[in-house]
Amino acid sequence: MEFYHLKFQTLVIIFATFLPNPLFCSENCNFPAIFNFGDSNSDTGGLSAAFGQAPPPNGETFFHAPAGRFSDGRLLIDFIAEKMELPYLSAFLDSIGSNFSHGANFATAGSTIRPQNTTISQSGYSPISLDIQRVQFSDFVTRSQIIRKKEGFFRNLLPDEDVFSRALYTFDIGQNDLTAGYKLNLSTDQVKAYVPRVLEQFSDVIQKLYGEGGRSFWIHNTGPVGCLPYIMDRFLVTAAQIDKYGCSIPYNDVSQYFNLRLKEAVSALRKKLPMAAITYVDVYSVKYSLIAHAKKLGFEDPFVACCGHGGKYNYNRFAKCGSKKIVNGTEIVIAKSCINPTARINWDGTHFTESANKWIFDQIVNGSFSDPPLPLNFACNRMNI
Ligand SMILES: *[C@@H]1O[C@H](CO)[C@@H](O)[C@H](O)[C@H]1NC(C)=O
Ligand SMILES: *[C@@H]1O[C@H](CO)[C@@H](O)[C@H](O)[C@H]1NC(C)=O
Ligand SMILES: *[C@@H]1O[C@H](CO)[C@@H](O)[C@H](O)[C@H]1NC(C)=O
Ligand SMILES: *[C@@H]1O[C@H](CO)[C@@H](O)[C@H](O)[C@H]1NC(C)=O
Ligand SMILES: *[C@@H]1O[C@H](CO)[C@@H](O)[C@H](O)[C@H]1NC(C)=O
Repeated sequence: MEFYHLKFQTLVIIFATFLPNPLFCSENCNFPAIFNFGDSNSDTGGLSAAFGQAPPPNGETFFHAPAGRFSDGRLLIDFIAEKMELPYLSAFLDSIGSNFSHGANFATAGSTIRPQNTTISQSGYSPISLDIQRVQFSDFVTRSQIIRKKEGFFRNLLPDEDVFSRALYTFDIGQNDLTAGYKLNLSTDQVKAYVPRVLEQFSDVIQKLYGEGGRSFWIHNTGPVGCLPYIMDRFLVTAAQIDKYGCSIPYNDVSQYFNLRLKEAVSALRKKLPMAAITYVDVYSVKYSLIAHAKKLGFEDPFVACCGHGGKYNYNRFAKCGSKKIVNGTEIVIAKSCINPTARINWDGTHFTESANKWIFDQIVNGSFSDPPLPLNFACNRMNI
């Protein structure tokens, strides 16, 4: 009964939106697994496993301890997993206690689409760029199936072969490709000039995942990086370059340019990959409206980080969230959390709080910011558009 009810609702939504376009089919996908690719916006422990744990107070609100996430609690990818009734994703790189039977997370904080020519200690960007994440995924496919064929404990921690074609492949990456150019002192025009090459590499990865059997792709566009303290603090803009809500116009322009080209790349992929269902999710608009209407939505100043160490934005790039200092022989935390993270949007100058992530998730889950406008659990349905 419940099943038919759901199906009927969706058909109504789809017919309302797509008439007179015909559609192939529309059903609840019951995704058995999620394979995620990205940066810190969706890292659930990759960078922590490889380069050291995200320090406390990260994780304080929900996990009550650091949990490999750069936030006080859950990320969009965690809410996505909850909605699908799947456990939270373990990082592929995390060898301690991981169960990959319902998916794996290849994202690491600081990842870019294009490999960077600097080390993590030089630039802060993760060496595990999207192409490497894809190689790790391929290795995961091959080796998990070798283990699945053997007897023993470990086979129960890995997915069945058929899971790879039925899983949802999620992406949230690109923001760091944009900031990387600015850190090299490139101009906005120079950053825009390399965006097409970045997106070629993105498309290449999607095609390779399709080649491995991936069929359902859920792609977040990049957020309004010009509204984030770590950018506003580092790259000065003139008063004329600040919009009416307080965000920096040139950096948001670059994000929007990236998103425009990403959307074109997604359309091209739909033509090339006849069996793929590719959903483009406009997370930019959701994040921007959250920041623009923070007060009305019950949040405090969106430009002041909850966890940080002083300054206009409570953000200091030399003393980030959780930074410590030795005073009189005792180590003390100098970049602490605020009293009520739940009332904040910005966690640490770069990332969103759990309550912001929850609000963003609630906007995107029903498909109202997606192209095609399918709810999350229906994102395996290829629309005839
Ligand atoms: C791993 O997760 C799957 C799916 O959630 C579950 O069925 C299985 O029991 C878990 N395996 C172990 C060893 O915990
Ligand atoms: C890294 O260097 C290679 C070779 O010079 C170049 O093709 C590539 O664009 C560089 N990558 C970035 C992100 O600058
Ligand atoms: C960028 O410019 C700043 C300020 O002029 C300089 O200190 C820094 O070394 C430059 N960075 C690069 C990568 O050229
Ligand atoms: C460090 O110790 C000195 C001497 O006991 C004291 O005056 C000072 O207040 C202490 N500093 C801090 C930050 O506790
Ligand atoms: C989707 O959810 C949001 C937030 O709950 C709501 O405002 C919006 O009207 C919903 N849209 C549709 C098409 O159901």
